[in-house]
Amino acid sequence: MTLRDSLYRPGEVILTQAEIAEVVARLGREISADYRGKNPILVNLLKGGVIFLADLIRQLPIPHQIDFMRVSSYENGTSSSGIVRIAEDLSTNISGRHVLVVEDVLDTGRTLAYILNMLQIRSPESIEVCSLLRKTATRDTWFDVRYLGKEIPDVFVVGYGLDYNEKFRNLPYIARLVGPDEP
Ligand code: IMP
Ligand code: MG
Repeated sequence: MTLRDSLYRPGEVILTQAEIAEVVARLGREISADYRGKNPILVNLLKGGVIFLADLIRQLPIPHQIDFMRVSSYENGTSSSGIVRIAEDLSTNISGRHVLVVEDVLDTGRTLAYILNMLQIRSPESIEVCSLLRKTATRDTWFDVRYLGKEIPDVFVVGYGLDYNEKFRNLPYIARLVGPDEP
């Protein structure tokens, strides 16, 4: 963390706390309707997705399980390294199970494409994606996002679990990250 890094800060709000709550409630209704009687495993990607998952499952009245994976594609700062590293794998056998991957934000989609490929090999009964945010400029994505919270502009955002160098996850809203050269 350099001095320059410490000058990055949250700027204009992209999604308010109330808007997030509304989106999460809607996703909860859609998922509950589709997965009734299927006992899905919600696979969450740490660490950014953890706050979203915590709120989402409280909107799911149906039986389900949760599990976690930790991967990193962004080694530092705001630009993609293009490298996906599995730092922690699932603790559940997903063979024959309905898997719903719960992601915070899709940017290039490369991280998720890699993970979906890897999970597919383990023979789940089904596999779908739920993402809170998707950047409109999302490229490279060959997969369907079955449950999408909201499209956002192609800017780096923080808050509600999303970080910049581990900072700002605690904001209850989502805001654009503003750099030191911006007023
Ligand atoms: P992708 O592989 O380019 O789709 O990047 C996906 C991952 O990068 C996300 O799961 C986030 O962890 C991280 N990421 C992408 N965009 C942002 C952002 O605007 N803020 C914080 N993290 C982001
Ligand atoms: Mg993520």
